[in-house]
Amino acid sequence: MAQTILILGGTGMLGAPVARRLHADGFNVRLLVRGPAKAREAFGETFTLIEGDVTDCAILDQAMAGCDGVHVSVGGPVDYASAENVAALASYRGVKRVTYVSGSTVHEKNHGFPMVQQKLMAENAIRNCGVPYTIFCPTWPMEQLPRFVRDGRATLIGDLPLPFHWFAADDFAAMVSAAYQREEAADKRFYVHGPQAILMKDAMERYCHALHPEIKGVSVLPLAVARTMAIATGNDGLKFAADLMAYFKKAEELGDPTEANQILGAPTTTLDAWIAQRKLIPA
Ligand SMILES: NC(=O)c1ccc[n+]([C@@H]2O[C@H](COP(=O)([O-])OP(=O)(O)OC[C@H]3O[C@@H](n4cnc5c(N)ncnc54)[C@H](OP(=O)(O)O)[C@@H]3O)[C@@H](O)[C@H]2O)c1
Repeated sequence: MAQTILILGGTGMLGAPVARRLHADGFNVRLLVRGPAKAREAFGETFTLIEGDVTDCAILDQAMAGCDGVHVSVGGPVDYASAENVAALASYRGVKRVTYVSGSTVHEKNHGFPMVQQKLMAENAIRNCGVPYTIFCPTWPMEQLPRFVRDGRATLIGDLPLPFHWFAADDFAAMVSAAYQREEAADKRFYVHGPQAILMKDAMERYCHALHPEIKGVSVLPLAVARTMAIATGNDGLKFAADLMAYFKKAEELGDPTEANQILGAPTTTLDAWIAQRKLIPA
């Protein structure tokens, strides 16, 4: 009988491709979502939807009933809460594998950054939940690039001097699905790196050149200017983005992806191949 996997964060940038890939690989997929109408619009009738918030343990308990696996891909302010709640219920609910999306810079040495602190606590909760786990530490997905284009302009906040091994979310989704199919993936922490190390500005320029030829260049808003603008306008989103980029200016991508690539299959989509795929998607 097909295994059933519950996904928290299944409407997200990294969660949705995982949902689609698990379904394509023959799993029954259940999504816990805050907005079922929007999720139904995005996915049609493909998945079982349960309406609820990850902080609501009663709903989560109900959603986890009969599940073989739970994939936690939430992030943001409830990142730790979602992992902690799943960890508390997993053993009692007879779950056989919990997978959690952490990040490639998540390490004790970076614990001063709030996102990292939450993820360290979340990883700890998952590791101690009494159920086999797989923790993923992905670097930057190529799907982030379009988010830097707004109102006909491409703008980066701060100039990041360190390259990242950009990966395609569909490749990541294939690795998560493989983790549910391979015993060797149990109780592992995997780094997810794409095939090429590329500076953010270079990646952005290549993306814009191919998909937004009307944009003549990628601008870089200095961090200090972004912070001042955020404070002056009360723009919390810009403040968060400036803090995140200030962090990534110093925090290098960590880890060795060799074991992940051997057990789960390496992400092979290059930036050029990913751009070529997107060119085929109607606007
Ligand atoms: N994107 C990256 O660059 C990147 C890189 C490395 C690691 N990660 C990690 O990967 C994970 C997923 O990231 P992402 O980029 O896919 O995030 P995302 O696009 O912002 O998606 C977040 C998902 O979580 C759901 N969610 C948030 N709060 C919720 C709540 N209280 N109850 C129920 N659902 C809730 C959202 O649902 P709604 O649709 O209702 O908002 C959405 O489905 C995060 O842990 C992130 O830190 C991301």
